[in-house]
Amino acid sequence: MEVGELFTLKGKTALVTGAAQGLGREIALALAKNGAALVLSDIQYPEVTAGEVQETGARWMAVQADITDEDQVKAMAESAASEYGKIDILINNAGVSQLSYTATEDLSKTEWDTIIRINLTGTFLSCKHFGKRMITAGGGSIINIATTAGITGVPRAPAYSASKAGVILLTKSLALEWARYHIRVNAIAPHYLETPLTEELRASEKVYAGLVRQIPMRRFGKPSEMIGAVLFLSSQASTYTTGTVIVADGGYLAQ
Ligand SMILES: NC(=O)c1ccc[n+]([C@@H]2O[C@H](COP(=O)([O-])OP(=O)(O)OC[C@H]3O[C@@H](n4cnc5c(N)ncnc54)[C@H](O)[C@@H]3O)[C@@H](O)[C@H]2O)c1
Repeated sequence: MEVGELFTLKGKTALVTGAAQGLGREIALALAKNGAALVLSDIQYPEVTAGEVQETGARWMAVQADITDEDQVKAMAESAASEYGKIDILINNAGVSQLSYTATEDLSKTEWDTIIRINLTGTFLSCKHFGKRMITAGGGSIINIATTAGITGVPRAPAYSASKAGVILLTKSLALEWARYHIRVNAIAPHYLETPLTEELRASEKVYAGLVRQIPMRRFGKPSEMIGAVLFLSSQASTYTTGTVIVADGGYLAQ
């Protein structure tokens, strides 16, 4: 294969969860620009992303699904397969952050359950139903979006941190289990990104300055800065890479 062709996704199909905004929107657009046919999935209709992907000329379809509902995830895998035959690339990006940042001794079980259900159980359900089809199809690449908070602890965010640590070990476990089926399973761990998820943090100058002070590059990342890792893990460039976590964090974890 020509070096220039390493990252092309021509002829590939990809599904992105949480594609309506933020990182998922950026990833979906990048995959489309690199030649993939897209399934845009989100609990809300991904209208803006669909418009942008349409402009690239890529083939696309949208599926509204809640990743915490197994029937919906199963139906999403079925409709993606009936449209495209198979899904080669699965990006499990849908997720939520800690909702209240309350002291853990006061954290409600409801909030704990919600975060674990979306971030960890939802990712498991998606891996399960798309993985099953990838096994039959002869392979694929799964990319789970984790975070630095899944590698190092975060005060007042134990559910977020634990859910994403779970995503990392889910990633590694599946990489071991499914290597024989030619399914690669990897994760990307960003630190803070400029997306709607961090809008509130960035709205307060004091909070933002405090967070940025802890980052060697002294800034939040842009969603577009995650695309290199996504294209690497999606494409022929990473055929010997599985069970790994690519950290993209402005140097945060190097400290
Ligand atoms: N923004 C950051 O600072 C940051 C840092 C590290 C990791 N991440 C991770 O990146 C991913 C994307 O985050 P973002 O910043 O783009 O967030 P975002 O809030 O902008 O977008 C998340 C998307 O997920 C969708 N979603 C939420 N619950 C869902 C469900 N149950 N089923 C289907 N879709 C659902 C939302 O509708 C939304 O479109 C998340 O997994 C997040 O944990 C974000």
